[in-house]
Amino acid sequence: MLSFAIETARRAGALLMAGLERRRSLELKSAYEVVTEVDRESEALIVSAIRHAFPDHAILAEEGGGIERTSPFLWLIDPLDGTNNYAHGFPFFAVSIALMEDGELRLGVVFDPLRDELFSAERGAGAWRNDQRLRVSDTPALAASLVSTGFPYDFATTTDNNTRQFTRIQARTQGVRRAGSAALDLAYVASGRLDAHWELRLKPWDTAAGALLVLEAGGRLSDWRGQPWNPWNDRLVASNGRIHDELIAALAE
Ligand code: IPD
Ligand code: CA
Ligand code: CA
Repeated sequence: MLSFAIETARRAGALLMAGLERRRSLELKSAYEVVTEVDRESEALIVSAIRHAFPDHAILAEEGGGIERTSPFLWLIDPLDGTNNYAHGFPFFAVSIALMEDGELRLGVVFDPLRDELFSAERGAGAWRNDQRLRVSDTPALAASLVSTGFPYDFATTTDNNTRQFTRIQARTQGVRRAGSAALDLAYVASGRLDAHWELRLKPWDTAAGALLVLEAGGRLSDWRGQPWNPWNDRLVASNGRIHDELIAALAE
């Protein structure tokens, strides 16, 4: 199932790359239409591959192309994470595919087609970037860390929008990045390129694969209160473990 997920993520990634070329050659308005088209095409490719290979499995996919079924197996699909980046040609987006079995994360794949970086994890078997084993950073304190976050789509219409936390944590770390793809942010925590990621109002397809990467690379996951996290919990903190409690405390102030 892991090799299937890897192969499928690579095929979807190739489709994103082809769409990017198409987008470049178009006027602004139709360029945006290409983005929604590519989102749907990528999802259709992934969903049809799963239906073909595992006809009994359930699928939850962002663009609504999933299949509800009673099955111990549930695939969680974000066909293009970082849509806004993709629409602007900012090079930070990915395909995210995760599989849960009986409510537990079993495997996760995040593919960055621009850098040809394939992040994968299997429960109990570690996390990888292409053929390199991943390990979270050993940064010991928040003051020495580089972390990332995100802001929700309803940012302008609510005050619960992460700005207070952002300001506070920006002042206590070496920097906060807001790169615009939660799936890749989490893959970067697993890689030790970032020491932690926190965010709110995320969806299961944004986080499931990346969260397993972090766990299998030796990191820690929780909600904003330090309680156990699952993909349906929309407030996530993922870290190298060592700065986790400090980050939770800073979020809670
Ligand atoms: C979004 C990205 C972004 C996060 C948003 C997500 P999308 O997913 O992961 O980093 O801040 O909350 O919705 O819309 O690009 O698939
Ligand atoms: Ca997403
Ligand atoms: Ca998406």
